[in-house]
Amino acid sequence: MKSKQTKAMSFLQLAAERCSTRSFRTDPIPDEVIGRILEAGRLAPSAKNLQPWHFTLVQTPAMLEKVHACYSRNWFHTAPAILIVSGRYENAWVRPADSYNSLETDLAITLDHMILAAAEEGVGTCWIGAFDLQVLKNALGMDEKEEIFAFTPLGYPTKDFTPVPKNRKSLSEMTTYR
Ligand SMILES: Cc1cc2nc3c(=O)[nH]c(=O)nc-3n(C[C@H](O)[C@H](O)[C@H](O)COP(=O)(O)O)c2cc1C
Repeated sequence: MKSKQTKAMSFLQLAAERCSTRSFRTDPIPDEVIGRILEAGRLAPSAKNLQPWHFTLVQTPAMLEKVHACYSRNWFHTAPAILIVSGRYENAWVRPADSYNSLETDLAITLDHMILAAAEEGVGTCWIGAFDLQVLKNALGMDEKEEIFAFTPLGYPTKDFTPVPKNRKSLSEMTTYR
């Protein structure tokens, strides 16, 4: 992934180039870039269009330090911003047939939209799922009912950052044509 993206990529190119970034420069991301990333999340689809999400963008040094406590990796602590997507089960769609609640799906879709938008902007991201939920909720002052399944740091990759080559099963292993 280039550090400053100027030319629009095809979607497949974007999907191929998006990768987990685990080496961030500390310089801030311009507001207009952040704005476009958030806009991609706003436009995401959700069950019954309920949009049961809230975006928290952490950028102040004091809040960054608090949030760092939920995931103690040095590379995570250099990113200038952290984007957290949260929501409540009571605000998401429930499938009548079996009471499946779409909150986790809806939150994953909007975060993925923003992660892909960030990749198009040359901004590095990394899905983080292995965090301490309670520490994060306490840091953000969120109540028990607010759910967080994943978040991402946002930042430009360092010059020496090299993506791990894509390692995926073949299409034939994951697809059935019938
Ligand atoms: C739901 C989810 C949770 C993840 N949690 C973490 C995590 O806690 N820490 C981490 O370094 N990477 C995490 N990842 C990143 C994956 O390891 C990564 O996406 C995968 O190895 C494929 O690599 P790529 O993103 O570079 O294509 C997570 C990814 C997903 C989708």
